[in-house]
Amino acid sequence: MQQSEQEQQKEQKITQNEIPDLIINPYEVVNNSKKQIDYDKLIQSFGCQRIEQNHLERIQALTQKPVHHYLRRGIFFSHRDLNQVLDAYEAGKGFYLYTGRGPSGDSMHVGHLMPFIFTKYLQEAFDVPVVIELSDDEKFFHKSETTLEEYQRYGYENAKDIIACGFDVNKTFIFLSSKYAGHMYHNICKFQHAITYSQLRGIFGLNESDNCGKVAYPAVQAAPSLSSSFRHIFGKDEVMCLVPQGIDQDPYFRMTRDVCYKLKVPKTGCIHSQFLPGLHGFGTKMGTTDPTSAIFLTDSPKEIEEKIKKHALSGGGMTKKEHQEKGADLTVDVPYHYLRFFLEDDARLEEIRVQYGKGVMMTSEVKKELITVLTKIITEHQQRRALVTDEMVQKFMELRPLSNYPPKKNN
Ligand code: TYM
Repeated sequence: MQQSEQEQQKEQKITQNEIPDLIINPYEVVNNSKKQIDYDKLIQSFGCQRIEQNHLERIQALTQKPVHHYLRRGIFFSHRDLNQVLDAYEAGKGFYLYTGRGPSGDSMHVGHLMPFIFTKYLQEAFDVPVVIELSDDEKFFHKSETTLEEYQRYGYENAKDIIACGFDVNKTFIFLSSKYAGHMYHNICKFQHAITYSQLRGIFGLNESDNCGKVAYPAVQAAPSLSSSFRHIFGKDEVMCLVPQGIDQDPYFRMTRDVCYKLKVPKTGCIHSQFLPGLHGFGTKMGTTDPTSAIFLTDSPKEIEEKIKKHALSGGGMTKKEHQEKGADLTVDVPYHYLRFFLEDDARLEEIRVQYGKGVMMTSEVKKELITVLTKIITEHQQRRALVTDEMVQKFMELRPLSNYPPKKNN
Protein backbone atom coordinates (compact mmCIF):
# COMPACT_ATOMS: atom_id res chain seq x y z
CA MET A 1 0.00 0.00 0.00
CA GLN A 2 1.31 3.47 -0.80
CA GLN A 3 0.71 5.08 2.61
CA SER A 4 1.11 3.98 6.18
CA GLU A 5 -2.08 3.37 8.18
CA GLN A 6 -1.20 6.39 10.31
CA GLU A 7 -0.93 8.71 7.31
CA GLN A 8 -4.13 7.24 5.96
CA GLN A 9 -5.99 8.01 9.18
CA LYS A 10 -4.58 11.52 9.28
CA GLU A 11 -5.79 12.16 5.74
CA GLN A 12 -9.23 10.81 6.52
CA LYS A 13 -9.53 12.85 9.70
CA ILE A 14 -8.83 16.18 8.08
CA THR A 15 -11.88 17.58 6.46
CA GLN A 16 -11.36 21.31 6.97
CA ASN A 17 -8.21 23.30 7.41
CA GLU A 18 -7.72 24.61 10.91
CA ILE A 19 -5.86 27.87 10.32
CA PRO A 20 -7.40 31.03 11.77
CA ASP A 21 -8.12 33.77 9.18
CA LEU A 22 -8.08 31.27 6.33
CA ILE A 23 -10.79 29.31 4.56
CA ILE A 24 -9.78 27.29 1.51
CA ASN A 25 -12.19 24.96 -0.21
CA PRO A 26 -13.55 24.65 -3.76
CA TYR A 27 -16.34 27.13 -3.03
CA GLU A 28 -14.62 29.66 -0.83
CA VAL A 29 -11.13 31.10 -0.59
CA VAL A 30 -10.95 33.69 2.18
CA ASN A 31 -7.63 34.99 3.50
CA ASN A 32 -8.27 37.54 6.24
CA SER A 33 -4.58 37.82 7.15
CA LYS A 34 -3.99 40.29 4.23
CA LYS A 35 -0.59 38.63 3.73
CA GLN A 36 0.51 35.70 1.62
CA ILE A 37 -1.15 32.49 2.83
CA ASP A 38 1.08 30.48 5.18
CA TYR A 39 1.49 27.46 2.90
CA ASP A 40 3.61 25.54 5.41
CA LYS A 41 0.72 25.63 7.85
CA LEU A 42 -1.69 24.72 5.09
CA ILE A 43 0.38 21.66 4.20
CA GLN A 44 0.22 20.56 7.83
CA SER A 45 -3.46 21.25 8.08
CA PHE A 46 -4.39 19.52 4.81
CA GLY A 47 -1.99 16.64 5.47
CA CYS A 48 -0.17 16.88 2.11
CA GLN A 49 3.60 17.02 1.46
CA ARG A 50 5.89 19.84 0.40
CA ILE A 51 7.57 19.55 -3.00
CA GLU A 52 11.26 19.35 -2.14
CA GLN A 53 14.45 19.98 -4.09
CA ASN A 54 14.85 16.22 -4.59
CA HIS A 55 11.51 16.13 -6.48
CA LEU A 56 12.72 18.89 -8.80
CA GLU A 57 15.98 17.05 -9.42
CA ARG A 58 14.11 13.83 -10.10
CA ILE A 59 11.70 15.53 -12.54
CA GLN A 60 14.58 17.22 -14.32
CA ALA A 61 16.48 13.93 -14.59
CA LEU A 62 13.45 12.02 -15.85
CA THR A 63 12.36 14.62 -18.39
CA GLN A 64 15.81 15.87 -19.42
CA LYS A 65 14.36 19.38 -19.37
CA PRO A 66 14.75 22.31 -16.98
CA VAL A 67 11.84 22.31 -14.52
CA HIS A 68 9.11 24.92 -14.94
CA HIS A 69 9.51 28.18 -13.01
CA TYR A 70 6.30 27.30 -11.10
CA LEU A 71 8.28 24.42 -9.60
CA ARG A 72 11.56 26.33 -9.21
CA ARG A 73 9.77 29.08 -7.25
CA GLY A 74 7.59 26.82 -5.13
CA ILE A 75 4.38 28.09 -6.78
CA PHE A 76 3.41 24.45 -7.29
CA PHE A 77 4.39 23.74 -3.72
CA SER A 78 2.73 20.61 -2.45
CA HIS A 79 1.76 17.10 -3.51
CA ARG A 80 0.28 13.77 -2.64
CA ASP A 81 2.07 10.62 -3.84
CA LEU A 82 4.13 12.42 -6.48
CA ASN A 83 6.92 9.85 -5.97
CA GLN A 84 4.56 6.96 -6.72
CA VAL A 85 3.56 8.64 -9.98
CA LEU A 86 7.20 9.19 -10.92
CA ASP A 87 7.98 5.57 -9.99
CA ALA A 88 5.28 4.38 -12.40
CA TYR A 89 6.75 6.59 -15.11
CA GLU A 90 10.25 5.36 -14.44
CA ALA A 91 9.06 1.76 -14.55
CA GLY A 92 7.72 2.41 -18.06
CA LYS A 93 4.06 2.13 -17.06
CA GLY A 94 3.44 5.83 -17.67
CA PHE A 95 0.76 7.93 -16.02
CA TYR A 96 -1.82 10.45 -17.16
CA LEU A 97 -2.64 14.00 -16.18
CA TYR A 98 -6.14 15.03 -15.20
CA THR A 99 -7.22 18.62 -14.57
CA GLY A 100 -10.34 20.71 -15.03
CA ARG A 101 -12.30 23.91 -15.08
CA GLY A 102 -15.74 24.81 -13.78
CA PRO A 103 -17.13 26.94 -16.63
CA SER A 104 -18.85 29.71 -14.71
CA GLY A 105 -18.68 32.31 -17.47
CA ASP A 106 -17.42 33.14 -20.96
CA SER A 107 -14.08 34.41 -19.76
CA MET A 108 -11.36 32.99 -17.56
CA HIS A 109 -8.88 35.00 -15.49
CA VAL A 110 -5.12 34.58 -15.21
CA GLY A 111 -5.50 32.47 -12.03
CA HIS A 112 -7.56 29.90 -13.95
CA LEU A 113 -4.87 29.75 -16.59
CA MET A 114 -2.09 28.62 -14.23
CA PRO A 115 -2.96 24.92 -13.82
CA PHE A 116 -3.36 24.67 -17.60
CA ILE A 117 -0.02 26.34 -18.35
CA PHE A 118 1.55 23.92 -15.89
CA THR A 119 -0.30 20.85 -17.21
CA LYS A 120 0.83 21.72 -20.71
CA TYR A 121 4.43 21.89 -19.50
CA LEU A 122 4.02 18.46 -17.84
CA GLN A 123 2.44 17.03 -20.99
CA GLU A 124 5.41 18.13 -23.05
CA ALA A 125 8.03 17.20 -20.49
CA PHE A 126 6.73 13.67 -19.76
CA ASP A 127 4.85 13.07 -23.02
CA VAL A 128 1.81 11.64 -21.21
CA PRO A 129 -1.94 11.79 -22.02
CA VAL A 130 -4.01 14.66 -20.61
CA VAL A 131 -7.72 14.56 -19.78
CA ILE A 132 -9.57 17.79 -18.99
CA GLU A 133 -12.98 17.94 -17.34
CA LEU A 134 -15.26 20.93 -17.91
CA SER A 135 -17.63 20.63 -14.95
CA ASP A 136 -20.67 22.46 -16.33
CA ASP A 137 -22.85 20.34 -14.00
CA GLU A 138 -20.89 21.54 -10.95
CA LYS A 139 -21.47 25.19 -11.83
CA PHE A 140 -25.14 24.52 -12.59
CA PHE A 141 -25.62 22.95 -9.15
CA HIS A 142 -23.51 25.45 -7.24
CA LYS A 143 -23.94 28.78 -9.01
CA SER A 144 -27.41 28.22 -10.43
CA GLU A 145 -27.34 31.62 -12.16
CA THR A 146 -28.42 30.32 -15.55
CA THR A 147 -29.50 27.18 -17.43
CA LEU A 148 -27.48 23.99 -17.80
CA GLU A 149 -27.36 24.70 -21.56
CA GLU A 150 -25.68 28.05 -20.88
CA TYR A 151 -23.08 26.42 -18.60
CA GLN A 152 -22.45 23.95 -21.42
CA ARG A 153 -21.90 26.86 -23.78
CA TYR A 154 -19.45 28.43 -21.32
CA GLY A 155 -17.73 25.04 -21.29
CA TYR A 156 -17.18 25.13 -25.06
CA GLU A 157 -15.93 28.73 -24.84
CA ASN A 158 -13.54 27.91 -21.99
CA ALA A 159 -12.33 24.87 -23.97
CA LYS A 160 -11.06 27.33 -26.61
CA ASP A 161 -9.00 29.15 -23.97
CA ILE A 162 -7.66 25.86 -22.69
CA ILE A 163 -6.76 24.66 -26.20
CA ALA A 164 -5.05 28.01 -26.79
CA CYS A 165 -2.58 27.08 -24.02
CA GLY A 166 -1.03 24.80 -26.62
CA PHE A 167 -2.30 21.28 -25.82
CA ASP A 168 -1.57 18.65 -28.43
CA VAL A 169 -4.84 17.36 -29.90
CA ASN A 170 -3.35 13.88 -30.40
CA LYS A 171 -2.50 13.64 -26.71
CA THR A 172 -5.42 15.46 -25.05
CA PHE A 173 -9.04 14.57 -24.39
CA ILE A 174 -11.43 17.33 -23.24
CA PHE A 175 -14.95 16.56 -22.03
CA LEU A 176 -17.99 18.29 -20.61
CA SER A 177 -19.01 16.31 -17.54
CA SER A 178 -22.75 16.62 -18.27
CA LYS A 179 -22.13 14.94 -21.65
CA TYR A 180 -19.42 12.41 -20.75
CA ALA A 181 -20.63 11.23 -17.31
CA GLY A 182 -22.38 8.18 -18.81
CA HIS A 183 -19.03 6.77 -19.96
CA MET A 184 -17.67 6.82 -16.43
CA TYR A 185 -20.93 6.12 -14.61
CA HIS A 186 -19.64 2.78 -13.32
CA ASN A 187 -16.91 4.67 -11.46
CA ILE A 188 -19.25 7.48 -10.37
CA CYS A 189 -21.43 4.76 -8.77
CA LYS A 190 -18.44 3.30 -6.94
CA PHE A 191 -17.53 6.69 -5.49
CA GLN A 192 -21.12 7.50 -4.57
CA HIS A 193 -21.45 4.11 -2.89
CA ALA A 194 -18.27 4.58 -0.86
CA ILE A 195 -19.02 8.08 0.50
CA THR A 196 -21.65 8.88 3.09
CA TYR A 197 -23.70 12.05 3.16
CA SER A 198 -22.20 12.94 6.50
CA GLN A 199 -18.66 12.69 5.07
CA LEU A 200 -19.67 15.00 2.22
CA ARG A 201 -21.17 17.44 4.68
CA GLY A 202 -17.92 17.41 6.63
CA ILE A 203 -15.83 18.00 3.53
CA PHE A 204 -17.98 20.46 1.58
CA GLY A 205 -20.24 21.99 4.24
CA LEU A 206 -23.49 20.87 2.55
CA ASN A 207 -26.85 20.98 4.30
CA GLU A 208 -30.40 19.66 3.84
CA SER A 209 -31.57 22.58 1.71
CA ASP A 210 -28.80 22.13 -0.88
CA ASN A 211 -29.94 20.59 -4.16
CA CYS A 212 -29.16 16.89 -4.69
CA GLY A 213 -26.75 17.73 -7.52
CA LYS A 214 -24.30 19.19 -4.99
CA VAL A 215 -24.32 15.87 -3.16
CA ALA A 216 -23.95 13.83 -6.35
CA TYR A 217 -21.30 15.97 -8.06
CA PRO A 218 -18.10 15.20 -6.06
CA ALA A 219 -18.12 11.67 -7.51
CA VAL A 220 -18.16 13.21 -11.00
CA GLN A 221 -14.97 15.15 -10.23
CA ALA A 222 -13.45 12.04 -8.62
CA ALA A 223 -14.22 9.51 -11.38
CA PRO A 224 -11.76 10.84 -14.01
CA SER A 225 -8.96 9.95 -11.57
CA LEU A 226 -9.49 6.30 -12.49
CA SER A 227 -8.11 5.25 -15.85
CA SER A 228 -11.08 2.90 -16.28
CA SER A 229 -13.16 6.05 -16.89
CA PHE A 230 -11.37 6.37 -20.24
CA ARG A 231 -11.54 2.99 -21.95
CA HIS A 232 -11.02 4.62 -25.36
CA ILE A 233 -7.57 5.74 -24.18
CA PHE A 234 -6.38 3.15 -21.68
CA GLY A 235 -8.38 0.05 -22.57
CA LYS A 236 -8.30 -2.21 -19.51
CA ASP A 237 -4.96 -0.95 -18.19
CA GLU A 238 -4.78 0.51 -14.68
CA VAL A 239 -2.77 3.69 -15.10
CA MET A 240 -1.76 6.14 -12.39
CA CYS A 241 -3.22 9.62 -12.46
CA LEU A 242 -1.65 12.93 -11.44
CA VAL A 243 -3.94 15.93 -10.90
CA PRO A 244 -2.44 19.43 -11.24
CA GLN A 245 -4.80 21.80 -9.43
CA GLY A 246 -5.09 24.96 -7.34
CA ILE A 247 -4.96 24.04 -3.64
CA ASP A 248 -8.67 24.96 -3.27
CA GLN A 249 -9.59 21.76 -5.14
CA ASP A 250 -7.79 19.46 -2.70
CA PRO A 251 -10.90 18.53 -0.66
CA TYR A 252 -12.29 16.76 -3.75
CA PHE A 253 -9.13 14.73 -4.08
CA ARG A 254 -8.76 13.95 -0.38
CA MET A 255 -12.15 12.36 -0.76
CA THR A 256 -11.11 10.67 -4.03
CA ARG A 257 -7.97 9.18 -2.50
CA ASP A 258 -9.88 7.94 0.50
CA VAL A 259 -12.18 5.98 -1.83
CA CYS A 260 -9.27 4.72 -3.98
CA TYR A 261 -7.90 3.19 -0.80
CA LYS A 262 -11.20 1.44 -0.17
CA LEU A 263 -11.46 0.31 -3.82
CA LYS A 264 -7.87 -0.99 -3.66
CA VAL A 265 -6.82 0.97 -6.74
CA PRO A 266 -3.75 3.26 -6.89
CA LYS A 267 -4.40 6.52 -5.10
CA THR A 268 -4.64 9.58 -7.28
CA GLY A 269 -1.50 11.71 -7.17
CA CYS A 270 -1.95 15.45 -6.67
CA ILE A 271 0.21 18.49 -7.29
CA HIS A 272 -1.06 21.78 -5.85
CA SER A 273 -0.44 25.40 -6.74
CA GLN A 274 -0.53 28.44 -4.54
CA PHE A 275 -3.46 30.77 -5.03
CA LEU A 276 -3.01 33.92 -7.10
CA PRO A 277 -4.72 36.72 -5.12
CA GLY A 278 -6.96 39.44 -6.53
CA LEU A 279 -5.36 42.70 -7.63
CA HIS A 280 -6.72 44.47 -4.56
CA GLY A 281 -4.46 42.52 -2.20
CA PHE A 282 -3.69 39.18 -0.57
CA GLY A 283 -6.97 39.17 1.32
CA THR A 284 -8.98 39.53 -1.91
CA LYS A 285 -9.95 37.22 -4.73
CA MET A 286 -10.49 37.52 -8.44
CA GLY A 287 -14.00 37.48 -9.79
CA THR A 288 -16.31 38.66 -12.54
CA THR A 289 -18.49 40.64 -10.10
CA ASP A 290 -15.65 43.16 -9.78
CA PRO A 291 -13.77 43.39 -13.12
CA THR A 292 -11.02 45.48 -11.48
CA SER A 293 -10.15 42.52 -9.21
CA ALA A 294 -8.54 40.45 -11.96
CA ILE A 295 -6.84 40.37 -15.32
CA PHE A 296 -9.10 38.43 -17.69
CA LEU A 297 -7.99 36.58 -20.80
CA THR A 298 -10.23 38.93 -22.81
CA ASP A 299 -8.68 42.16 -21.46
CA SER A 300 -7.18 44.66 -23.92
CA PRO A 301 -3.66 46.06 -23.37
CA LYS A 302 -5.26 49.32 -22.20
CA GLU A 303 -7.43 47.52 -19.65
CA ILE A 304 -4.44 45.57 -18.36
CA GLU A 305 -2.46 48.77 -17.98
CA GLU A 306 -5.26 50.62 -16.20
CA LYS A 307 -6.08 47.77 -13.84
CA ILE A 308 -2.48 47.31 -12.78
CA LYS A 309 -1.77 51.02 -12.47
CA LYS A 310 -4.94 51.85 -10.54
CA HIS A 311 -5.87 48.66 -8.71
CA ALA A 312 -2.85 46.44 -8.02
CA LEU A 313 -2.14 46.93 -4.31
CA SER A 314 1.38 48.19 -3.72
CA GLY A 315 3.60 47.47 -0.72
CA GLY A 316 5.72 50.53 -1.52
CA GLY A 317 6.14 53.47 0.87
CA MET A 318 3.45 56.16 1.07
CA THR A 319 5.92 58.84 -0.04
CA LYS A 320 9.05 58.66 -2.17
CA LYS A 321 11.15 59.49 0.90
CA GLU A 322 9.56 56.76 3.02
CA HIS A 323 9.92 54.27 0.17
CA GLN A 324 13.60 55.04 -0.25
CA GLU A 325 14.18 54.75 3.50
CA LYS A 326 12.20 51.59 4.24
CA GLY A 327 11.81 49.87 0.87
CA ALA A 328 8.72 47.99 -0.28
CA ASP A 329 6.90 45.46 1.87
CA LEU A 330 6.99 42.50 -0.49
CA THR A 331 4.77 40.42 1.78
CA VAL A 332 1.75 42.49 0.72
CA ASP A 333 2.84 43.80 -2.68
CA VAL A 334 0.64 42.42 -5.47
CA PRO A 335 2.66 43.52 -8.55
CA TYR A 336 5.82 41.80 -7.27
CA HIS A 337 3.83 38.70 -6.36
CA TYR A 338 2.29 38.57 -9.85
CA LEU A 339 5.78 38.82 -11.36
CA ARG A 340 6.75 35.73 -9.34
CA PHE A 341 3.99 33.91 -11.21
CA PHE A 342 4.41 35.38 -14.69
CA LEU A 343 7.97 36.68 -15.20
CA GLU A 344 10.04 33.69 -16.30
CA ASP A 345 13.49 35.28 -16.02
CA ASP A 346 14.84 34.26 -12.59
CA ALA A 347 17.73 36.73 -12.62
CA ARG A 348 15.49 39.70 -13.40
CA LEU A 349 12.97 38.65 -10.75
CA GLU A 350 15.72 38.47 -8.14
CA GLU A 351 17.00 41.89 -9.19
CA ILE A 352 13.50 43.34 -8.74
CA ARG A 353 13.10 41.63 -5.36
CA VAL A 354 16.34 43.14 -4.08
CA GLN A 355 16.05 46.61 -5.64
CA TYR A 356 12.35 47.08 -4.87
CA GLY A 357 12.76 45.61 -1.39
CA LYS A 358 15.51 48.17 -0.70
CA GLY A 359 13.47 51.06 -2.08
CA VAL A 360 15.81 51.67 -5.03
CA MET A 361 13.16 50.62 -7.52
CA MET A 362 9.81 52.43 -7.37
CA THR A 363 6.33 50.84 -7.47
CA SER A 364 5.62 52.52 -10.82
CA GLU A 365 8.64 50.75 -12.35
CA VAL A 366 7.59 47.34 -11.00
CA LYS A 367 4.04 47.89 -12.26
CA LYS A 368 5.40 48.88 -15.66
CA GLU A 369 7.36 45.64 -15.82
CA LEU A 370 4.26 43.64 -14.86
CA ILE A 371 2.17 45.43 -17.49
CA THR A 372 4.72 44.48 -20.16
CA VAL A 373 4.87 40.84 -19.04
CA LEU A 374 1.10 40.32 -18.73
CA THR A 375 0.24 42.23 -21.91
CA LYS A 376 2.55 39.91 -23.85
CA ILE A 377 1.08 36.77 -22.27
CA ILE A 378 -2.54 37.86 -22.78
CA THR A 379 -2.08 39.24 -26.31
CA GLU A 380 -0.33 36.09 -27.49
CA HIS A 381 -3.00 33.98 -25.80
CA GLN A 382 -5.74 35.95 -27.61
CA GLN A 383 -3.97 35.46 -30.95
CA ARG A 384 -3.79 31.69 -30.42
CA ARG A 385 -7.39 31.56 -29.18
CA ALA A 386 -8.65 33.38 -32.29
CA LEU A 387 -7.36 30.44 -34.34
CA VAL A 388 -9.29 27.83 -32.33
CA THR A 389 -12.38 26.81 -34.30
CA ASP A 390 -15.51 24.92 -33.19
CA GLU A 391 -14.27 21.98 -35.27
CA MET A 392 -11.03 21.92 -33.30
CA VAL A 393 -12.98 21.85 -30.03
CA GLN A 394 -14.99 18.88 -31.38
CA LYS A 395 -11.78 17.12 -32.31
CA PHE A 396 -10.43 17.47 -28.74
CA MET A 397 -13.75 16.10 -27.46
CA GLU A 398 -13.90 13.07 -29.78
CA LEU A 399 -13.68 9.64 -28.14
CA ARG A 400 -10.46 8.18 -29.58
CA PRO A 401 -7.13 6.63 -28.54
CA LEU A 402 -4.34 9.11 -27.80
CA SER A 403 -1.05 8.82 -29.65
CA ASN A 404 1.16 8.70 -26.55
CA TYR A 405 -0.58 5.78 -24.83
CA PRO A 406 0.67 3.08 -24.34
CA PRO A 407 3.98 4.75 -23.46
CA LYS A 408 6.99 4.01 -25.61
CA LYS A 409 9.58 1.75 -24.04
CA ASN A 410 12.63 3.20 -22.24
CA ASN A 411 11.27 6.66 -21.30
P1 TYM B 1 -12.25 26.43 -11.34
O1 TYM B 1 -12.91 26.68 -12.64
O2 TYM B 1 -12.70 27.19 -10.13
O3 TYM B 1 -10.70 26.68 -11.50
C1 TYM B 1 -9.96 26.02 -12.52
C2 TYM B 1 -8.56 25.73 -11.99
O4 TYM B 1 -7.93 26.97 -11.68
C3 TYM B 1 -7.49 26.97 -10.32
N1 TYM B 1 -7.63 28.34 -9.83
C4 TYM B 1 -6.60 29.07 -9.39
N2 TYM B 1 -5.30 28.77 -9.23
C5 TYM B 1 -4.51 29.73 -8.71
N3 TYM B 1 -4.96 30.96 -8.36
C6 TYM B 1 -6.25 31.30 -8.50
N4 TYM B 1 -6.68 32.50 -8.14
C7 TYM B 1 -7.15 30.32 -9.03
N5 TYM B 1 -8.49 30.30 -9.29
C8 TYM B 1 -8.76 29.08 -9.78
C9 TYM B 1 -8.40 25.97 -9.61
O5 TYM B 1 -7.81 25.47 -8.45
C10 TYM B 1 -8.56 24.90 -10.69
O6 TYM B 1 -7.46 24.02 -10.68
N6 TYM B 1 -14.13 22.05 -9.65
C11 TYM B 1 -13.17 22.68 -10.55
C12 TYM B 1 -13.21 22.09 -11.97
C13 TYM B 1 -12.58 20.73 -12.04
C14 TYM B 1 -11.22 20.42 -11.71
C15 TYM B 1 -11.08 19.02 -11.93
C16 TYM B 1 -10.13 21.20 -11.27
C17 TYM B 1 -13.19 19.59 -12.44
N7 TYM B 1 -12.30 18.55 -12.38
C18 TYM B 1 -9.85 18.42 -11.71
C19 TYM B 1 -8.91 20.58 -11.06
C20 TYM B 1 -8.78 19.19 -11.27
C21 TYM B 1 -13.40 24.17 -10.64
O7 TYM B 1 -14.48 24.66 -10.46
O8 TYM B 1 -12.26 24.87 -11.02
